[in-house]
Amino acid sequence: MRVLVVGGAGYIGSVTVAELLSAGHEVVVFDSLVTGHAEAVSPGAELVVGDLADAELLDDVFGRRTFDGVVYYAGFIAAGESMRDPGKYFLNNVGHLINLLNAMVKHQVLRFVFSSSAGVYGEPDKTPIEEDAPLAPVNPYGESKAVAERLLRWYDSQCGLRYVSLRYFNAAGATEALGEDHRPETHLIPVVLEVAAGKLPVLELYGTDYPTPDGTCIRDYVHVSDLAQAHSLALERTRKGSAVYNVGNGQGFSNGEVIETARRVTGHPILVREAPRREGDAAVLVASATKVKQELGWEPRFPDLERIVESAWRWHQARPNGYES
Ligand SMILES: NC(=O)c1ccc[n+]([C@@H]2O[C@H](COP(=O)([O-])OP(=O)(O)OC[C@H]3O[C@@H](n4cnc5c(N)ncnc54)[C@H](O)[C@@H]3O)[C@@H](O)[C@H]2O)c1
Repeated sequence: MRVLVVGGAGYIGSVTVAELLSAGHEVVVFDSLVTGHAEAVSPGAELVVGDLADAELLDDVFGRRTFDGVVYYAGFIAAGESMRDPGKYFLNNVGHLINLLNAMVKHQVLRFVFSSSAGVYGEPDKTPIEEDAPLAPVNPYGESKAVAERLLRWYDSQCGLRYVSLRYFNAAGATEALGEDHRPETHLIPVVLEVAAGKLPVLELYGTDYPTPDGTCIRDYVHVSDLAQAHSLALERTRKGSAVYNVGNGQGFSNGEVIETARRVTGHPILVREAPRREGDAAVLVASATKVKQELGWEPRFPDLERIVESAWRWHQARPNGYES
C-alpha cells in the first residue's frame, strides 16, 4: 500500500513508519515538526514538512500522489497543558484534523486510522475499560479526541470514509533506533529516566492521595512497537468498515510501581518529591484489549513493564540529548 502518515516524525508515528516500511509499504510522512524530529523519519520514507492548518498544501499533497490510506498522529498530547490552553487543543486536534478529512474526501482517499486516546473515557466506573463505556473526558485533550471520533462517524455515514479509531493507553518504550523525545517531556517513564540519568534532580510525583493501593495513579503501558503493529493491522481492517478499539495491555501499574521498576532497571536511586494532584488526571485507566485481540489478532510482544522501561532506558543512554545527539 501507499500510505500517508500524518505526524510520522513524532514518537509513535516514527515507529509506525519504520514498521510499515519493513512490511513493504510505501510511506509518505506529512509533519510540521512542531514536536516531531526529521531525524526520526526512516530514510525509506518521503518527508513533506507542512502543517495541517495549510489546507492548500494538503490539497497539493493529495493532488500529486495517490494514497491507499492515511494514518494520523498529528495531535497535541499533553492533558495538563490542555487544561491551561483548551483552544490550542481544539484548534489542532479537531480544527486542523477537519482539513485533513476534507482533503481525503475530495481526493477520494477513504481509509483512515485515527490516534484516539484512553482520555476519552475520563474517570470510568468500571475497570478494565471496554469500548462501549461512556465517553466522559475530564480534560480538553480527551474532549478533543472524543469530538474527533464523533466527527468521524459523520464522515463515514455521509462521505464513505472508513476509519479505525485506536484508543490507546500510555505509549512507552523504544526500539533500538527510535524513542520518545518530547520537549517538554510530560510522560512518566521518560521523566523518571531523566532523573535516573541526572538530567533532572528530582521527580515531581503528582498526587499520592488517589483511591489506589499506594495512593498514586494507575496506568496501562503499551510498548510503542506493539502500538505500531496495531496501526498496521487497523489499516488493513478499514477494508471491512469502521471500528473503534482500545489498545493496552490490560494490566495497570501505579506511578509508584513505575518508579520502583525504573530504580531496578537503571540502578539509580531516583529522588521523588510528592506534589499535589494535577488537574484533569484520572485515578485509574486500564484497558480491556479483548476486542482488538479477537478482531484484529493483535497480541502485544512486549507486555512486561520491566522490558518496556529497559528499552526506553537503552535508548536514553544511547541518545542522552534525544534526537539532537
Ligand atoms: N504518547 C502517548 O502515550 C499517547 C497515548 C494516547 C494517544 N496518543 C495520541 O497519539 C498521537 C501521537 O502521539 P505522540 O506521543 O507520537 O506525539 P508526538 O508529539 O511525538 O507526535 C505528533 C506529531 O505530529 C506532528 N504534528 C502535530 N500537529 C501537527 C499539524 N498541525 N500538522 C502537521 N504535523 C503536526 C508533530 O510535529 C509530531 O511529529 C497523538 O494524537 C496523541 O494524542 C498518544
